[in-house]
Amino acid sequence: MSGFTVAIDGPAAAGKGTIAREVAAHFGFAHLDTGLLYRATGRRVLAGEDPIAAAQALAPQDLQGEGLRSGEVAQAASKVAAIPEVRAALLEFQRRFARLPGGAVLDGRDIGTVICPDAEVKLFVTASDDVRAARRFLELSPKNPDLTLEQVQADLAARDARDAARDTAPLKPAEDAVMLDTTELGIDEAVAAAVAEISARRAG
Ligand code: DC
Repeated sequence: MSGFTVAIDGPAAAGKGTIAREVAAHFGFAHLDTGLLYRATGRRVLAGEDPIAAAQALAPQDLQGEGLRSGEVAQAASKVAAIPEVRAALLEFQRRFARLPGGAVLDGRDIGTVICPDAEVKLFVTASDDVRAARRFLELSPKNPDLTLEQVQADLAARDARDAARDTAPLKPAEDAVMLDTTELGIDEAVAAAVAEISARRAG
């Protein structure tokens, strides 16, 4: 099979990452969490680098290591993501990844709209604000005992507002995206819904 792209977009903590990972494992596709590119750029900026130079210099080892998942790095990621030159620096890598011959799943904010407008499948994953905050709190609190649910709610609200309001590649569903609301779904059910959608497109 040559090139089958699944684009998964949505706001923070809606379940995109888990769905993308599981779907990639199910179909044997490669998976790219594109938020990591912005987080790695944001981490370099927190260390004092210029955002555009940081994005242009990004290397594979930047996508590993401590702290990429922290709230501080998430905010920095959301800020650098509003800079058009940062997005431009990261675009080609994502497009090449999307056309890997064995199939690819990319999750982010602008995959279906900007990076891969011709993706074979586009999903837009959402969940209520409360459910998203609760999920992210459960994920982060074991490593951050001082973290409060209110802090997580504020972080998500600030990022979503910034990500949706920016001029370049804002967070929004592609016109042909299939909406997947995970508010009432467990992980297995959400993954099953995504797998069913992708299987139908592959068959048809
Ligand atoms: O998916 P995430 O929470 O790891 O993403 C961190 C930030 O990166 C997010 O707030 C906005 C930005 N981002 C983006 O602008 N475009 C993407 N395709 C992925 C992430």
